Amino acid sequence: MRTTIVLTFLVAIVAIGSLSFITIQDQKTGGPWDIPQEYIDMENPHKGDSSLDRLGRAGYARHCRSCHGRNGEGDGPMAAQLETFPGDFTKAEWHEKYNDGEIYYMSFVGRDEMPNFESNITDIEERWAIVNYIRSLKD
Ligand code: HEC
Repeated sequence: MRTTIVLTFLVAIVAIGSLSFITIQDQKTGGPWDIPQEYIDMENPHKGDSSLDRLGRAGYARHCRSCHGRNGEGDGPMAAQLETFPGDFTKAEWHEKYNDGEIYYMSFVGRDEMPNFESNITDIEERWAIVNYIRSLKD
């Protein structure tokens, strides 16, 4: 009797595990971003400013971590419900692909499932602090 319960439990865990695996596998990757030139040309006025580290970490934890995950791998608790993979901020190629202005655009203007944060995060310093924090997530 006890063995049956334990077995049923194990089967259920494996089934649930593979289901969530399928959900993540089903996520599409977003296509290329169409980023306006003014953002591409934008300089990060707080580049390398370590006094903003705490602000950036806290802002990311509050606004971004639920989808993007603790380490920025795109695996936050809400990620499985998203149709689009949020991206992986730990990859060096990702950091080489975008400059800070482009990251700023994607982060605060957004598109589709990536929310717009312009009215939610109004402090410009906090926005750049979050960009700097994302930069620090590279392995
Ligand atoms: C509700 C979930 C959600 C939250 C919260 C969220 N994002 Fe996103 N984010 C996404 C999704 C989904 C995408 C992919 C969108 C696409 O490609 O169309 C994305 C894409 C991005 C990208 C571009 C990644 C790439 O490789 O194309 C950046 C940068 C980004 N988000 C930054 C942030 C920041 C910074 C915050 C917090 C201020 C944040 N996101 C909050 C879901 C979220």
